[in-house]
Amino acid sequence: MKLAIGADHGGFDLKSEIVGLLKKIGNIEVIDFGTSGPDSVDYPDYGKKVSEAVSNGQADRGILICGTGIGMSIVANRYPRIRAALCHDHFTAKMSRQHNDANVLVMGERVIGRGVACEIVQTWLDTAFEGGRHQLRLEKIGKIGSKG
Ligand code: RB5
Repeated sequence: MKLAIGADHGGFDLKSEIVGLLKKIGNIEVIDFGTSGPDSVDYPDYGKKVSEAVSNGQADRGILICGTGIGMSIVANRYPRIRAALCHDHFTAKMSRQHNDANVLVMGERVIGRGVACEIVQTWLDTAFEGGRHQLRLEKIGKIGSKG
């Protein structure tokens, strides 16, 4: 699997932790779009890079991290074919895959601890989409498209 990852300064430390986890898990080609340090940057610039990579097929999935996860979620869900889910725990990570087929995972470094974040990533990678009635709902979302 090819996985694009990006963060602003509010998510930089957690991104480093998650990149390490992904390397340990193995069989994942990580494309790290930055940011590469703690200096203040604008989250839309990094949300854009990861969202474009997933939207155009350069990556299969994406992970975005900012302080709350809210800004990155707003950015990512403006892109076609992106279903970005802001997850705070094991349950939301599992449901975002089973029901929403989320292809971008968003987390807030200032909201959750590192242990919870690593559990979220592992669950999100391991959980399959259930399809069925959920597929029909995603098709309805697809018809709405990107507005504005
Ligand atoms: C940066 O201070 C912060 O606003 C950003 O990381 C994010 O939380 C925005 O939604």
